[in-house]
Amino acid sequence: MKKYIKIFNNIGELSQYFATLLADGVQNTPEGRFFSIALSGGSTPKVVFEYLAAHFAKEIAWDKVQVYWSDERCVPPDSPESNYRMAKESLLDQVPIPANQVFRMQGEADPAAEVVRYTEVVQESIPHSKGFPVFDLLMLGLGDDGHTASIFLHNSHLFYSERPFEVADHPQSGQQRITVTGQTINHANAVVFIATGAGKAEMVANVLAKKAGWEQLPAALVNPEAGRLVWLLDEAAAGEL
Ligand code: 6PG
Repeated sequence: MKKYIKIFNNIGELSQYFATLLADGVQNTPEGRFFSIALSGGSTPKVVFEYLAAHFAKEIAWDKVQVYWSDERCVPPDSPESNYRMAKESLLDQVPIPANQVFRMQGEADPAAEVVRYTEVVQESIPHSKGFPVFDLLMLGLGDDGHTASIFLHNSHLFYSERPFEVADHPQSGQQRITVTGQTINHANAVVFIATGAGKAEMVANVLAKKAGWEQLPAALVNPEAGRLVWLLDEAAAGEL
């Protein structure tokens, strides 16, 4: 695994770098194949998606891209909490990606049934290795508590699941989630964490410097087998490195 930590003056420069990373990946995708990206949720990626929509609607061959999710809240797709809705509004409605190349996790469905369905859909759509999907680019965020995707500290065993996707639940709200598991993350060709703001600085340092107790932090368990691990930080989030 090759690890890269990139620190940017601001989220605009971070977004530009991410967009170029995506554009290069799509451009280098062999003819007849799709570039698969799994989008992360929460608030951080929204600015990155808006940048992509504003500056890369024509610069990326979106007809070569398939969009998946790293995790989703078990809410309807039009819920303000839906990761799909956030991506749809900030990016997918603004770029020419064919609707049949967007594979949302159905938050409105029964969670256990949706894990089975989504696992099958991904299995039919992208290459697999040792039974796990190989996403070309898998985006992750970093929770203030060290969670990533929807693998939290209280259910960190999900990181080691033998299944590519699992049902999780939020530690405070109890909200159910559909999430990638650790082996799916670690099978990706590239895992890209995006963390911005001073509020993430302590946890970024805990994870990247493997400070005491790091083994409890799901984000610190990310260690792609053959792929690249890229951390994109603004100066504020990198403030304690
Ligand atoms: C989610 C995310 C979650 C998120 C982190 C960071 O569905 O909420 O997948 O893992 O990436 O909690 O969230 P922010 O970007 O909002 O800080």
